[in-house]
Amino acid sequence: MNNSGKYFLSAFTPSFSGRPPFWLMRQAGRYLPEYKELRKKAKNFLDFCYTPDKACEVTLQPIRRFNMDAAIIFSDILVIPHALGADVRFEEGKGPILKPVQNSKDLELLSRQNFASHLSPVYEALRLTRKALPAETTLIGFAGAPWTLACYMIEGKGSRDFQLPRTMIYKDPAFFIKLVDMLTDAVSSHAIAQIEAGAEVIQIFDSWAGVLSEKQFSDWSIVPTKKIVSAIKKAYPSIPVIGFPRMSGSKITDYVKQTGVDAVSIDGSVTLSWAKEHLQPHTVVQGNLDQLLLAYDKNAMLEEAKRILSIFGDKRFIFNLGHGVIPETPPDNVLALSELIRSYA
Ligand code: CP3
Repeated sequence: MNNSGKYFLSAFTPSFSGRPPFWLMRQAGRYLPEYKELRKKAKNFLDFCYTPDKACEVTLQPIRRFNMDAAIIFSDILVIPHALGADVRFEEGKGPILKPVQNSKDLELLSRQNFASHLSPVYEALRLTRKALPAETTLIGFAGAPWTLACYMIEGKGSRDFQLPRTMIYKDPAFFIKLVDMLTDAVSSHAIAQIEAGAEVIQIFDSWAGVLSEKQFSDWSIVPTKKIVSAIKKAYPSIPVIGFPRMSGSKITDYVKQTGVDAVSIDGSVTLSWAKEHLQPHTVVQGNLDQLLLAYDKNAMLEEAKRILSIFGDKRFIFNLGHGVIPETPPDNVLALSELIRSYA
């Protein structure tokens, strides 16, 4: 147990050994009937995110059922572009739709003027959630990394490979640099404000880091993340930061060495033996059960979870998925997984 009394934070204490703490990305969401019930009553997804008592309630739902060691505040990475003045909508079955930001003129329409007041419902949700959570449960705040936010802003929607934002790096570097600088400041402020409202850990989601070349990854995932981690550490030196450069394979070693993150979340783009050898000696590793296996094959999932636990063992490890829980996941499978992890000795 960590001296704060929080089991989750033990993973960051080098001398700790024991059952790894666990939580699951997208642990609140459409696989839970009680989420869908509450979601139905909201006008739209963003409105749902900006209603503090609803956001608090859905953050608590998975904790009541499965008692994870940490809760992640219910929000979205796209609240940052929205708070900067970008037009952001979520369409049923389509995902996010934004008015694209593709040149310096489009950027002039964005500003920090209403940023903090726009995001105040997220901070209120954090305050409510911290009060309502069991004392031993850690509250995680989060933000998208600048590159991943730039992907959605430039493209205006989801994409398989985000070619347009990737070519923009070469075609209009002056614009691209301004956009990423603006986002780096915005993400830093949002992370610090979440800590002030009760977040005890911050996770930075770089969901589209995997499409970047080696040089682009260094310039647009590592460098901005390093600035964000420094800003957080300057204000709150003891708050752990978890980085998630999704699908980044062997590029994760440089990410860990250079950004200053306290933990790195991994997915299926690396083997467990590689991560054990190249990452775990330097940082806390988080991951990486296949979220599809969790949804579709309970027995095979439990075997794989045992393999992950046996490889990473009892220190410097946080059990999680390779990516978020999908809506098709039977809650029963999540219960079986949480029981397995809890009984791990
Ligand atoms: O439980 C948690 O993890 C906390 C809540 C959370 C959400 N989104 C809620 C959500 C978190 C941490 C996110 C992060 C997020 N949002 C990311 C990074 C992680 C990742 O998945 O790569 C990204 C890229 C987004 C952007 C986003 N939001 C997309 C592409 C979509 C549509 C896809 C989908 O799953 O529907 C969303 C919508 C969204 N964000 C939902 C939830 C629960 C579903 C919308 C709904 O319930 O109507």
